[in-house]
Amino acid sequence: MTKIFAHRGSKGTHPENTLSAFREAVRVGSDGIELDVQLSKDGQLVVIHDETINRTTDGTGTVGDMTVKELQEYDAGSWFSMEYATEKIPTFTEVLDLLTEIGFTGTLNIELKTDQYDYPGIEQKLVKLIQKQQPVFEVIYSSFNPLTLERLGEIDPQTKKAWIMVGDKFTILFSKYLLLIDSIHPSFTWFSKMEKELIDYPKYIRPWTVNEESAMILCFKRNVDAFHTDYPAQAIQCRNKLADN
Ligand code: G3P
Ligand code: MG
Repeated sequence: MTKIFAHRGSKGTHPENTLSAFREAVRVGSDGIELDVQLSKDGQLVVIHDETINRTTDGTGTVGDMTVKELQEYDAGSWFSMEYATEKIPTFTEVLDLLTEIGFTGTLNIELKTDQYDYPGIEQKLVKLIQKQQPVFEVIYSSFNPLTLERLGEIDPQTKKAWIMVGDKFTILFSKYLLLIDSIHPSFTWFSKMEKELIDYPKYIRPWTVNEESAMILCFKRNVDAFHTDYPAQAIQCRNKLADN
């Protein structure tokens, strides 16, 4: 059965990468949750997609130039809707605590946002924290940056790693970096062009971001391992409808 991963939490219905978006993703029964991790100026793991806080808070500035205390002074919810005005940029630890508290038992997909800034030490911090906390849910790591995946493997060869891919290059499927990983996360556009090549590809395939019903149906029919969606509740409904027919 194709699993459904909530992209940045339930991003379509709640402000992305906030505790409310993760709570909603669990409430509707998502099999997995994807989130984006970066490092603050004081070296803390924080959960936010963009390299600046400009789009998703009421402040401005670069994530890596601000301490956690500074980052958490801003409202990370009212840009989406006033009812979320109390949301803050969460630390990664706050998300782990929330998921543990509400009994999440699916898969947590941690994307390391190292494609623009390298954030030295981010891989080590994450892996050590997960090893220390030993969450009951499964953890997989993903990144656009293959060097991050390489570092994760050096820190702990047991880590499950996915390479996030865009574009339409067939040759990428023969890259040396594919030896490092057990799954690929292709953009849906690429996946839909490449589905015949990818169908028997010996890695887990988890396309993103799959929001249209027709795209969801294609993923279910191709029996991919999972897909990422901004609308996990709708994807679950779509999967149930297909199962009933
Ligand atoms: O992991 C899939 C997806 O999250 C990658 O793109 O930009 O949404 O982080 P982005
Ligand atoms: Mg992401």
